[in-house]
Amino acid sequence: MLVASSLTLVMALASGCALPPRGTEATFRSNVLPVLRRFCWRCHGESVHESHLDLRTPGSILRGGDSGPAVVAGRPGDSLLVKLLVEEQMPPEGERPSTADISLISEWVSCLDERVPPQDASHEANSERSP
Ligand code: HEC
Repeated sequence: MLVASSLTLVMALASGCALPPRGTEATFRSNVLPVLRRFCWRCHGESVHESHLDLRTPGSILRGGDSGPAVVAGRPGDSLLVKLLVEEQMPPEGERPSTADISLISEWVSCLDERVPPQDASHEANSERSP
């Protein structure tokens, strides 16, 4: 349902960051990571990185893939990952995340702080293979 998910997204965008302080990391762990693991890691995870995109950590998501950053901190509307989810282009086939999942991901993006880059697993990036 493209219309319903777009509406929810607009609402998420309008409300800005509504997570409690330090809720951003908790939201990633409990709401974002499980969705990405379930729907995306098959193609953007441990062994496969379609478009050189690794969706396993905030750092690798911010770094993005061939088209640049997958998310722009604080700006879900400018984030390719959110756009592809809302437009139902990713995952390309099969079961998709719910509208509620997508708006939580969008919320997480709006709460990401670009001044504090996540201190994570960039070393994992070095193990990437070209297709
Ligand atoms: C069946 C494999 C598959 C799954 C599952 C999948 N993707 Fe993709 N994804 C691709 C392929 C192939 C491309 C590159 C070609 C394209 O854009 O269609 C891509 C490209 C992308 C890009 C653009 C990367 C860039 O920098 O060009 C993003 C963002 C993305 N996917 C996000 C996601 C998200 C989020 C999920 C989970 C909700 C997901 N994908 C699930 C196969 C997949």
